[in-house]
Amino acid sequence: RTTAVILAGGTGQRVGLSIPKQLLKIAGKAVIEHTLTTFEQADSVDDIIVLMAPGYVPDVEKIVARAGFSKVSRIIEGGTTRNETTERAITALGEGLAEGEDLNVLFHDAVRPLLSQRVIDDCVAALERYQAVDVAIPSADTIIVTRTHGEDGEFITEIPDRSRLRRGQTPQAFKLSTIRRAYEVAAGDPNFQATDDCTVVLRYLPDVPIHVVAGDEYNMKVTQPVDVFIADKLFQLGSTAAPEQMSEEAYRELLTGRTLVVFGG
Ligand code: CTP
Repeated sequence: RTTAVILAGGTGQRVGLSIPKQLLKIAGKAVIEHTLTTFEQADSVDDIIVLMAPGYVPDVEKIVARAGFSKVSRIIEGGTTRNETTERAITALGEGLAEGEDLNVLFHDAVRPLLSQRVIDDCVAALERYQAVDVAIPSADTIIVTRTHGEDGEFITEIPDRSRLRRGQTPQAFKLSTIRRAYEVAAGDPNFQATDDCTVVLRYLPDVPIHVVAGDEYNMKVTQPVDVFIADKLFQLGSTAAPEQMSEEAYRELLTGRTLVVFGG
């Protein structure tokens, strides 16, 4: 069995709206509704649980009821950090399991509403061989490592070889038993600090290989205000072919805005 865990416990400080960014409407639907639609339609996903920002569970209940998402089995409150939200999901999922039973779990950011079915299927397929799976894309930008020296500001300490660098996305997929064990070990570390779940496995279960599945550029995270505009544009594209699959003529037409007017109408 495969369960998708939708991480929606954050409040979206950087986007800076009065509501959590996962409730913002883009292209006619709340961001989280786009995300839920993708998992609802995924053949390889059996059920979905949502961890929502405290106080906003009823908003998700309404969205789920209105859209008729049949795979959503639980909507509960998230924690104060992303890792705490994950831990709550692990506890909730463990409650429903028989002794010795395991589960595939896909942790996905609610605010990545443009995830493709291909990436979901690749993650589930990879879990047949591996206990931990990440999704990542190459970095177009050069990544630099810096250190801050007081009032003088930041200075470069390292420029890692770009060909080996990847930008991590979600889903991050695991056998439930593996991610639970990683968090159990982490609980014994007073300095525990992480922002994602693969970090927890890498650090606390170093013998477990973490396989990497190719993500895609569309699977962006709505993080900064500008991302709302980018996501909106990408949803408009959704009704047509992706630019890389278009003829040059169609591509040029799209860039002039004419095609968007046609498809938007
Ligand atoms: N998340 C979560 N629980 C938290 C914090 C974050 O489930 N306590 C989720 C967010 O809802 C989001 C994903 O983790 O879907 C990625 O986090 P991020 O983009 O950092 O979201 P926010 O914490 O909401 O954003 P910000 O840091 O700008 O407040």
